[in-house]
Amino acid sequence: MPLIPAEAHLINTEPCAAPPRHVAIIMDGNGRWAAARHLPRVAGHREGARAVRRTIEAAMRQKIDWLTIYAFSSENWRRPAGEVLDLTGLLRQYLRTEIAELGSNGVRMRFIGDRDRFDEGIQKDLAKAEADTAGNKRLNLTVALSYGARAEILAAARGMADAVAAGKLARSDLTEETFGRFLSTDGIPDPDLIIRTSGEQRLSNFLLWQAAYAELVFLDVLWPDFDAQHFAAALAAFAGRERRFGARPA
Ligand code: FPP
Repeated sequence: MPLIPAEAHLINTEPCAAPPRHVAIIMDGNGRWAAARHLPRVAGHREGARAVRRTIEAAMRQKIDWLTIYAFSSENWRRPAGEVLDLTGLLRQYLRTEIAELGSNGVRMRFIGDRDRFDEGIQKDLAKAEADTAGNKRLNLTVALSYGARAEILAAARGMADAVAAGKLARSDLTEETFGRFLSTDGIPDPDLIIRTSGEQRLSNFLLWQAAYAELVFLDVLWPDFDAQHFAAALAAFAGRERRFGARPA
């Protein structure tokens, strides 16, 4: 059921009693936010980057262990060259200006997706951010960049087939768990809650394998307006769900 932001402001932002361990977010609506203000799309993305900062703070306050954000999909490369340049420029700026602070606040950064498609400078910054924050434990932040779940699943299937062909893995060892080790999210727990903003209700090729039992919360708020109260509202919706993982209630 979609949550209406008008209700969201009534929910306080005190830490939730039983927070999900892993929250993943599809940040949508930057373009519409800008269009509503007669601003160029880049203004929406810039404001979206500010919302990312607020969200990381909110996640830490809510004692979330794992946060994953969908910052750039493999399909986003098909946008006009100018917008792709704006988005990669923002990413470069973000990596140069925010990582040190995130690192000193105990945030461990990981990136999933096809990073080879980014220029060498960005690739170096991504590797540095991961290395510099590898010892942090307060919040595990994963940023999906040039990410597409089908490509990820296909790459995992190829990796597993290669391992079998090389005699490193027996066919009888092919389980859901072994398959998970070939995904880019190896070592990251599956998301318990996936939030999508902007009122759209779909997964758009995001964490398709990992989302098997995730609770989905769709919010009628454009990503640049997303704040701690919307985050708390999504956690409250999650807390009200009965998770059965396919079993019958006791
Ligand atoms: C969706 O809005 C958002 C994106 C395509 C990119 C998300 C990027 C950010 C939040 C800013 C940069 C983030 C970092 C980490 C530097 P949309 O453009 O699809 O919006 P629309 O559907 O309203 O057109």
